[in-house]
Amino acid sequence: MPSQPPSKPVIVCVVAARPNLMKMAPILRAFAKPDFAARPVLVHTGQHYDADMDSDFFTALDIAAPDFRLEVGSASHAWQTAEVMRRFEPVLDQTQPAAVLVVGDVNSTLACALTAAKKNIPVFHVEAGLRSHDRAMPEEINRVLTDQVAELLFTSEASGTSNLLREGIGAGRIHFVGNVMIDTLRLRLSSAPSVAQVLRDANLAGFIADGAPYALLTLHRPSNVDEPQRLRSLLGTVARLSADVPVLFPLHPRTRAMIHQHDLSDLLDAPGLACMQPQPYLAMLAMMQAARMVLTDSGGVQEETTALGVPCLTLRENTERPITVTEGSNAIAGRDPAVILALSRDILRFGGKAGRVPQYWDGHAADRIAAAVNTWFAQRRRRRP
Ligand code: UD1
Repeated sequence: MPSQPPSKPVIVCVVAARPNLMKMAPILRAFAKPDFAARPVLVHTGQHYDADMDSDFFTALDIAAPDFRLEVGSASHAWQTAEVMRRFEPVLDQTQPAAVLVVGDVNSTLACALTAAKKNIPVFHVEAGLRSHDRAMPEEINRVLTDQVAELLFTSEASGTSNLLREGIGAGRIHFVGNVMIDTLRLRLSSAPSVAQVLRDANLAGFIADGAPYALLTLHRPSNVDEPQRLRSLLGTVARLSADVPVLFPLHPRTRAMIHQHDLSDLLDAPGLACMQPQPYLAMLAMMQAARMVLTDSGGVQEETTALGVPCLTLRENTERPITVTEGSNAIAGRDPAVILALSRDILRFGGKAGRVPQYWDGHAADRIAAAVNTWFAQRRRRRP
């Protein structure tokens, strides 16, 4: 009788929040190829759960249903992180994985990395080494600590590699693979709808004349939206900008809640400003690609605008993705209304910077990750036959 081929070891892959999905989709595709050394098992922690922040993205990005759902939901950082750990541990006990792969910098990234590391299960971190050097950002804590417990670290830009080396991580564990989020952008861009269609779907038909310039705004960082004075100042600045150029503003649930809580809704009444529900992935790509400029505090949007060559102003004092500034189309505008307005008007008048696409933001980052993981498994087999 022919003997059964040995079953592949399991690699647990974790998703949690909206931006994780764009990063994980190409990785799962690369891991599904027959020559990949392991069998992926997908775990969704449930940090994001609204359909327009979550399940719609599974459909749009062709991600299979998760094998495990932890349904953690929203809570304080400590509660959310602890609850993910508590619910993730039994999944590891049940699946006995050879490795756990986490992406990005959300609370679930750290929670799952720490749970695995405590059980001596090797952790692979995709999008490692990014640093804002601002420890007041919850994501910075998640990045630093996840990298410290990771066995393989996949970087998306050169700064990631140099930050890790500076923090004492061995060069042999660091792989510069490029940007998986841009893998997804390159694969999906040609399927994006027209902006006119996006506006029709959002009941905003005619808000922007065909081909007329507009700005796109996203805001969700706690440092921008949780403090009422700052949120008031930013929304007031955008309302003023909207007198020069129409502004489309898909509202993150955190931001919507804060505007409501602090009674700031009147600032959204400017005639040139249109608020929208959180948008599907392809609609966001469509709106980014055709925008005259993008204003954002999102890391992913900084990268996507760089890949698209669309001028971007980051409404923060720093970025953990410096290549979007040194090579890409991004500039740090900070939060001073006068500076934001001056930089915006410069872009509207002179076009802003187009930049160039960074190395390895070429649609093949996930293939490089799969190759490095295959090598790791081959070395592991040699270590323990
Ligand atoms: C999280 C990540 C952030 C990432 C962002 C992308 C952390 C620390 N932050 O921030 O890095 O850029 O996701 O969106 O992990 N909510 C809903 N529906 C949802 C999800 C959230 O209504 O599906 C609301 C809840 O009121 C919740 C709030 O949004 O309390 C914040 O959600 P949370 O996941 O804690 O953080 P984000 O601000 O989304």
